[in-house]
Amino acid sequence: MNNKPIGLYDSGFGGLSVWRELYWSLPDESLVYLGDGLHCPYGALPPERILELAQRSVEVLIERGCKMIVVACNTATAVAIKCLREKYPDIPFVGLEPAVKPACLTTRSGVVGVVATERSLQAEKFLTTLSKYGEGVEVIKAVGRGFVEAVEANAEAEESTEVVVRRVIEPVIEAGADTIVLGCTHYPFLRGVIDKVIGDRAVRVIDSGEAVEKRVESLLDKYDIRAEDDNDARYEFLTFADEAYAERLSCKAFGREVGPSDDVKCRAIHY
Ligand code: DGL
Repeated sequence: MNNKPIGLYDSGFGGLSVWRELYWSLPDESLVYLGDGLHCPYGALPPERILELAQRSVEVLIERGCKMIVVACNTATAVAIKCLREKYPDIPFVGLEPAVKPACLTTRSGVVGVVATERSLQAEKFLTTLSKYGEGVEVIKAVGRGFVEAVEANAEAEESTEVVVRRVIEPVIEAGADTIVLGCTHYPFLRGVIDKVIGDRAVRVIDSGEAVEKRVESLLDKYDIRAEDDNDARYEFLTFADEAYAERLSCKAFGREVGPSDDVKCRAIHY
């Protein structure tokens, strides 16, 4: 048993789609969420920069006493998780990867769309998974241009966001995809708009949130570090941007205004 928090980090709001899964499934676990905010989006940054940012983020979470770290960002996982595991061998890490395997194994049309950031679509691990499970499947890779910016601006309901989403999703469906993989943790926040674009066409959308939650649980058991049943779970939101951004993180996480009675901590950390 271990009541220390689980840490999660992302370039910004995206990893909150993973945070929500842990919040609902693991009510005894305290969670520390670091949403960079200052250097977002990561999607097209050079790998060396993403690695630097990953190391600083993980340092912060370790200073907070985190017992496990979820790299709640496909882009950072693709670039940095190997180095992080080598540098911090005592911390269990969970990474995010586009759910290519279930998509390729279950498609009926034989065409799968993977929407992710530029960096994630170029990642070695992604390409290896593709060659392993993508045989006989046509995989269409599409960069979700403008998706992260729309989520960071809380603009999911804006008409301009529908235009941005349609521009990316429509050609993937027109090419015959019956399965679309959301390979970036920001994208589940656009699920409503994506569903609207799909309309009544038989297209399945898959993200990695639930699978990651299961992986977290299996590692908590493997290392015997679950929190006690009566643990008073605490929630903290950190950022390299400013305190207002940290507060926005907390509101996005809970899907409502968060006030003093919530006993949630929001802090800006110096990068
Ligand atoms: N949410 C991240 C991901 O899963 C990063 C997106 C970005 O900052 O470009 O890839």
